[in-house]
Amino acid sequence: MRLLLLTALLALLLQHATAQDDYCFGKDGERAQTRHFSSKTAYQIAKGTHIDKQYQVPGCEPKKMWIFHRHGTRLPTVNTIKEAPRLEDLRDLIDKNYNVLRTKPETNALCQIDLFGIKMWKWNASITVDMEQHLTSQGYEDLRGTAKLYQRYYPSVLSSKYNNTHYYFRHTDTQRTTESFKGFSEGLFGDSRVATAADIPEQDLLLRPYDYCTDFKNKNYKGEGSEYYKFTNSSQWNQTMEDIGRRLGFTYLDEKDIMLMYDMCRYEQAWQVDRTSVWCAAFLPEQVNVLEYAEDLKYYYEAGYGFPENERFNCRAVQDMLKHLSTPASPQVVAYFAHSAGLQTLLTGLGVSRDDVKLTADNFDIMSNRRWQISKLGPFAGNFVAVKYSCPAEREQEKAVFFINQNAVQLNWCNVGLCNWSDVMKNYKTINEANCDEYYCRSGASAGQASLLLSALIAGIVYLMH
Ligand SMILES: *[C@@H]1O[C@H](CO)[C@@H](O)[C@H](O)[C@H]1NC(C)=O
Ligand SMILES: *[C@@H]1O[C@H](CO)[C@@H](O)[C@H](O)[C@H]1NC(C)=O
Ligand SMILES: *[C@@H]1O[C@H](CO)[C@@H](O)[C@H](O)[C@H]1NC(C)=O
Ligand SMILES: *[C@@H]1O[C@H](CO)[C@@H](O)[C@H](O)[C@H]1NC(C)=O
Ligand SMILES: *[C@@H]1O[C@H](CO)[C@@H](O)[C@H](O)[C@H]1NC(C)=O
Repeated sequence: MRLLLLTALLALLLQHATAQDDYCFGKDGERAQTRHFSSKTAYQIAKGTHIDKQYQVPGCEPKKMWIFHRHGTRLPTVNTIKEAPRLEDLRDLIDKNYNVLRTKPETNALCQIDLFGIKMWKWNASITVDMEQHLTSQGYEDLRGTAKLYQRYYPSVLSSKYNNTHYYFRHTDTQRTTESFKGFSEGLFGDSRVATAADIPEQDLLLRPYDYCTDFKNKNYKGEGSEYYKFTNSSQWNQTMEDIGRRLGFTYLDEKDIMLMYDMCRYEQAWQVDRTSVWCAAFLPEQVNVLEYAEDLKYYYEAGYGFPENERFNCRAVQDMLKHLSTPASPQVVAYFAHSAGLQTLLTGLGVSRDDVKLTADNFDIMSNRRWQISKLGPFAGNFVAVKYSCPAEREQEKAVFFINQNAVQLNWCNVGLCNWSDVMKNYKTINEANCDEYYCRSGASAGQASLLLSALIAGIVYLMH
């Protein structure tokens, strides 16, 4: 009798132990991998949590702020919206793999909850291509939330009464940044309609410089020969793809399908932060890290330190910040609502989160603690905030703190995040004194010269013809 009981107990224990073997996203209270979704990470997950200790500078008073804010969580691009119904096929195929074909793998299988979640998934068909990249309601909340949070810490600067001498707002020419501005305004003033944003210039060189620079667009950051390309053609990458497919019961699953599941996972997780996207269950945490590294590589060479010239690219935004914060003159608050590439190149221009070792296709293993991690730097609603302080009792009266997503930026020439303004000006002297029209985009500049030459030539011909 006792033996029987023992055996039963043992069997129960064993069963429990094997059930524990399968990673279960639906039961994971931490879901650490949601912190590694690169530019599609939810702000609530990426944001810093120590601003309450970092904003207050004894003996100093905050005077001015300069904000560069990425839009909040958005709907997918046209391509992803068009491809989304394919996920319903994949849903049915996975269900069939597990329940009909019995190709469930021996190890690392989906747990029951996750499988059931996938089986019940439906694409929200009211998301149509005409709404591509629109801000979602969570995206609006993202910005309303950052505005309220910064206002809580800086009530005198982020006054709840709007006027257009104190505040200067601008967004780019897109629905998602326009709505983000409104969300931010509502957060500050309790009403999205009281504030107005400045007109968008025909050439938005300040917020979308990459639209006007072929050098920037054409460099090879993800094509053949790039580190991104090498990484996504490596045996480690291939193994990851194979493992993901096998986990879902496939002998072969196209990379395109895997990427679609990955995108939907990240979108849904950001749209409803406190729910779980069933598609995230398709990926084990260590697989997410591999996918994340590919994204970091891509952005590193597109907008980061991968190419040294990227450090010169966002010259105008850096100058704009320094100009505004150098004087006590109005506006006291400047806030821009823009995009991922703008935010990333701004950080690169400022030398923020620069690694001592370059990110390459070969060093995934040693770069696990890299500073260039877009999940942390550039999530949805990612924001860079510079706060200018006045410290009357100090020898150096003007100081500044820079924040990325509510984390004080650590620069080695500052004192735990608190920088002397004279040091700011000294460190950014070169970029601040540069002529931004020529500092980076030489193809643009040379195009200008070529057209000058051409018009001289035409003028000459016209002259000769007369
Ligand atoms: C489907 O998408 C629309 C458009 O974004 C949204 O308003 C709606 O709430 C979504 N429905 C569900 C069930 O998530
Ligand atoms: C604008 O608002 C700021 C902050 O609330 C206030 O100090 C300033 O006097 C206002 N200026 C005008 C012209 O209303
Ligand atoms: C991809 O990797 C394989 C195997 O290492 C190599 O033979 C092939 O040339 C690579 N493809 C490209 C386009 O780099
Ligand atoms: C990875 O897979 C790609 C596409 O199937 C293949 O071309 C490449 O040779 C593989 N790379 C390695 C290193 O096996
Ligand atoms: C800032 O300036 C003060 C006064 O000149 C100096 O004592 C201090 O070391 C400077 N701080 C840093 C981080 O360099």
